[in-house]
Parts: sequence; structure tokens; C-alpha cells
Amino acid sequence: MIYLLDKNAQIVPIENKKTVNLILQHNFIVLAYPVQFSNVPFMVRDFIKIHSDIWKNKKIFCVATMGIFSGDGAGCSARLLKRYGAKIVGGLHLRMPDSVCDVKLLKKSINKNQEIINMTDRKIEKCAEKIKCNTYPKDGNVIKLRKIK
Ligand SMILES: Cc1cc2nc3c(=O)[nH]c(=O)nc-3n(C[C@H](O)[C@H](O)[C@H](O)COP(=O)(O)O)c2cc1C
Repeated sequence: MIYLLDKNAQIVPIENKKTVNLILQHNFIVLAYPVQFSNVPFMVRDFIKIHSDIWKNKKIFCVATMGIFSGDGAGCSARLLKRYGAKIVGGLHLRMPDSVCDVKLLKKSINKNQEIINMTDRKIEKCAEKIKCNTYPKDGNVIKLRKIK
């Protein structure tokens, strides 16, 4: 999705030592993570909190991938980032094949997983088109955040 918006965008994991510096150098950031227990993964939350001073006035678009149920996955990081001065422009929830779950009931066939990927690809393409027209999706509770402003 990032490359649909900007072919020169850099994608960096939060574990990379250069990430904090890169965030400081850019005004628009897409923060993406897999939903865990309907929330932000602990290591992502820790990263946001430990570096609480880098978010002020950054425009941030929160993307959360999910297996089945996202809760307000994008809203969880959005609330935290807003507390540190970030401007949340929107949120997006994307369904993905569950790559880790060991519950047999939740496992899907390769075809079903491919269907999920295709649907998600379409959603990403539509979303990128809308963003280019300055309309950001508001999945998760990021809508409420805007009203609070
Ligand atoms: C510890 C853990 C908790 C998870 N909790 C949820 C959840 O609450 N809701 C959900 O839809 N998916 C949940 N998932 C599934 C991931 O969100 C899903 O596998 C991920 O978004 C797919 O991206 P990946 O291929 O990078 O793992 C969980 C995964 C793990 C490992």
C-alpha cells in the first residue's frame, strides 16, 4: 500500500536502529502492525511510549492487520499517539490469513486464504485511490478521535 501512495517511501521495522531518526525526518507516517488480542502488540505500544517525544505534529495513518476480529485495532495506537501530540489522519483494518494460530478450527484452505488476500489487495487499492484524493478511511475508533478535537 505504501508504494501505491509513494514509490520512494521507506518501509522500516521498529527494531531497526535507524527508525527513530527516519520518523524524526518525515511528517507523514504509516504505522502498521498485526492486531493482537484486539489491541496493539506490546512491542509496538512500548516503542510508541519509549519514544513519546518523536510524535508531536506528525501526521499518522494507522493500519492494523487482523485474522478475524480487529476490535478497534487502529484506534488503539491512534489514541496513544494522539496523547503524544500526533495528528491522526485515519485508520485502516486489513484482513489477512492467520499465519500463526494453532487452532485447527481457524485454519483455512489455500484457496480461501488466497481469496482473503485478493479481497485485501482490492481494499488496499481502493483505499490508496481515496487517500490520493485526500479522503482517509476511518476504521477503528479513529473517527471518534477526530470529533474530540
Ligand atoms: C498473540 C496473537 C494474538 C492475536 N490476536 C488477534 C485478535 O485479537 N484478532 C484478530 O483478528 N487476529 C489476531 N491475531 C492474528 C493476527 O492479527 C494476524 O495473524 C495478522 O494480522 C496477520 O499478519 P501476519 O501475517 O503479519 O501475522 C493474533 C495473533 C497473535 C500472534
